Amino acid sequence: MTDPDADVGDPADADSVVEAVFDAVAATAPEIRAALPGRRVESGTENASGESVMAGDLYADELLGDALTAVDGVGSFVSEERETAVDAGGAVGEGAYAVAIDPLDGSSNLRSNNAMGTVIGVYDAPLPATGRDLVAAGYVLYGPITTMVVADEDGVHEEVIEEDDGGVSRSVVEDDLRLPEDPLVYGFGGRVPDWPDEFTAYAREIEDELKLRYGGAMVGDVNQVLTYGGVFAYPALVDAPDGKLRLSFEANPIAYIVERAGGAATDGEIDILDVEPEGVHDRVPLYVGNEGPVERLKAALD
Ligand code: AHG
Ligand code: MN
Ligand code: MN
Repeated sequence: MTDPDADVGDPADADSVVEAVFDAVAATAPEIRAALPGRRVESGTENASGESVMAGDLYADELLGDALTAVDGVGSFVSEERETAVDAGGAVGEGAYAVAIDPLDGSSNLRSNNAMGTVIGVYDAPLPATGRDLVAAGYVLYGPITTMVVADEDGVHEEVIEEDDGGVSRSVVEDDLRLPEDPLVYGFGGRVPDWPDEFTAYAREIEDELKLRYGGAMVGDVNQVLTYGGVFAYPALVDAPDGKLRLSFEANPIAYIVERAGGAATDGEIDILDVEPEGVHDRVPLYVGNEGPVERLKAALD
């Protein structure tokens, strides 16, 4: 775990703040996982994106909010489940960091008992910010086992998160996670009739080449692409040109991770990390994976 006495503000301490953020996320993972069986129902509320919120979303948001705002060096906290940023003390961009999370990504998979996870972005600028302000990003994946993928300036690694009598442990199982050279799988969100014609034509080509792996939770689908190579998309839709995924706490962290693993990520025109948001809940189309399929997608939409 980390040196709690490290004084924040020294650029060298970016690493210790990032480490403390992922310590806090790892520490909450077993508790969130254990709480899911009893929280598979709708909470009856809607979030800032106008989407219905599951009891599991609220629980994860509360637990992670408390844990992350208590981290020395976290100046503000933004969540998919909260309208506005939570002030955590400390001037973001001057030694403190802004953390953006999707507390439970793919929570519609709760009822069907499919994979879901938590997405984290650590920004060195007040939010809304571009992905170029990310200093680290990661996700927890609640699958058959609990894993955590973390990307920072040194690269991407994968950990297994476990809990025993001694507490929660983080074990690195892959210390240099790289996208495989040859794409193998694809997963495209949204309904086919809602896809623009150019995307449909591209999808038909990809369907003839790769294997369909779509599980309904971005973290699970992107983890398949990181593991086997390929492409994931939640595209612009005819009646939703900005797609569904939110830039601050879904697309930017995923783009940061996949690009550091050797892949590419675009909104259809520019690199996801260059998209300039107006608000922290802005949506953006996301196409991410091996450079080949992503470049073909950009040409197809051009
Ligand atoms: P969240 O549960 O955080 O709202 O995210 C769900 C997202 C993302 O995980 C997934 O890729 C997409 O919604 C699936 O959307 P569809 O149900 O339209 O396929
Ligand atoms: Mn999500
Ligand atoms: Mn969510």
